[in-house]
Formats: sequence, C-alpha cells, structure tokens
Amino acid sequence: MEKNILVVDDDEIVVKSCEAVLSAEGWQISGVTNARDAMELIKRNTYDLVITDLIMPTIDGFELIKWTNDNFPHTRIVVMTGYSSKAVLRDAIALDIVDFMQKPFFPNTLVDTITKALNTPPKVPVPSKQPDVFDMEKLNAIVKKYKKKPGSLITILQEAQELIGYLPPSIQKAIAKGLKVPVSEVHAVVSFYSFFTMKPMGKYNVRVCQGTACYVKRANEILEKLKETLGIEEGEITRDSLFSLETVRCIGACGLAPVVVIDNDTHGEVNPVKAHELLENYK
Ligand code: FES
Repeated sequence: MEKNILVVDDDEIVVKSCEAVLSAEGWQISGVTNARDAMELIKRNTYDLVITDLIMPTIDGFELIKWTNDNFPHTRIVVMTGYSSKAVLRDAIALDIVDFMQKPFFPNTLVDTITKALNTPPKVPVPSKQPDVFDMEKLNAIVKKYKKKPGSLITILQEAQELIGYLPPSIQKAIAKGLKVPVSEVHAVVSFYSFFTMKPMGKYNVRVCQGTACYVKRANEILEKLKETLGIEEGEITRDSLFSLETVRCIGACGLAPVVVIDNDTHGEVNPVKAHELLENYK
C-alpha cells in the first residue's frame, strides 16, 4: 500500500528537496514549514511517517513529536537536524523516534533511512478500513460520470468521500488513474481542502466551528465539553466508531454562531449543555 509521509522543516528548500527525492520513490509526500501546520495536517490525514526538524520557531520539533506520540501513536517519526550535540540526540531518542538524520544528508541516505523506518512496525496499528470491491466499482462509475467534464476533480472527490467515508491513498490513486492525472495532483487537492479527510470517520462526524464569530461566542468551551462527553480528542474516533470529532474554520453560518455540524446537520446557537444533548439524538 502507498505510504503517506509528512515533511516538516522551517527551511523550505529542505522541504522541497525531501519532497522531490521521496516522491520519486512512489510515496505520497506533503511538506510544511512549521509545526502548527503539521499538526493541522496530522489531525486531518493518516500519516505513516513524519520527518521533522527539531529547531523551529514558535513550536519546535520536540513539542511536535510529543504531541504526535500522544495523539497519533501509530505515526512513526524520523528526526532530521543540523544540531547534533549528544544532549539533543539523547533528548530526541528519549521521545521514541524511529531514526535520526544529521543535516545535510545525501538523497540516498534519506531514502535508505525512510525505507528502514517504514519497515519498522508502528507502535499501534494504523487505523484503516480498506474500501471493499463494491465501493471500488461505484467509485469507477463516479469517475466515469465526470471524467469528460473539465474541473470536476473536487466533485469526484466529494462523491468518493460520500461513498467511502474518507479518501485514503488507494482511492486517490484510483481516481488519478481514472482521470489520467498524476496522483500528486489529486493528493494536493485532498490535502488542501479541510472538508476532505484521508482517515476514517465515525458514523457521525462532529465538527465544531472555531472561526472568529464562533470563537468569540466561546466555541472552545463547546469543544471541551464534546471532548469530555465523547472521551476523545480532536481527530479521534470513539471506541464504538459512532462519533469522530474535529474542528473547522468558518463554515459560513456566522449568524448562527456558535455552530456545531453533525454530519450534514448544522446546529446553531449551541452551548456546552446543548452540545451534550445534541449527541444523545444521534445515539
Ligand atoms: S465563524 Fe463559525 S460559522 Fe463563521
């Protein structure tokens, strides 16, 4: 199965170089230049491996590694850094990383290290539900329906996500093949739009708007209440797979702020108590 890798480094040249070298190996690569964007992507997608720098402004690599280990323990982590003091190395290894590369490195060192790391079993299984054959037949029908219409990639992805629930690499590859476009083109669209997800969702996906209008009306308190009620963090699924929880930026319903969307139902003027009650209607 295709591997999904995220590269994080505040030096854009390093990110672009890693992307070029690793995508040539057939892996799906996303790159960002700060840990905050990395966290957003990790919440929305399933990565087999994250390669991160350690010394970065605002949120450093150590914090990113700890956060990833706490929230997405199936994700393998490889560190790359120009700082190779023994103390830094010891601190990074203590965070349960898979491997360590000192910058600058040759392309073959990068490929060898990542190949080895991907062959290392994850600490916990990668959450995945493979689409069945029936889904794939329906997916091919969707692609066929739109393939002659220019600019239909987003529509195809939306229908594919409605059908399967998420857009793992195998589905992106099938769509790219059907449209005769590079997989990287499909992957770029999936990674860019927050309404697309590469990992499975619960039966009901709960989205809490954290846009400005909702935030000033204390949407963060609603989020905390939902986390407590469901017993999960953002980006996670409840044990019974009934609910998943995520945050979104403005969904264009600011007049109803604060807003919670459960599947396709928009609930306005929510408060923590009402949020708790809303969930009961979906059980
Ligand atoms: S900020 Fe929440 S709907 Fe606009």
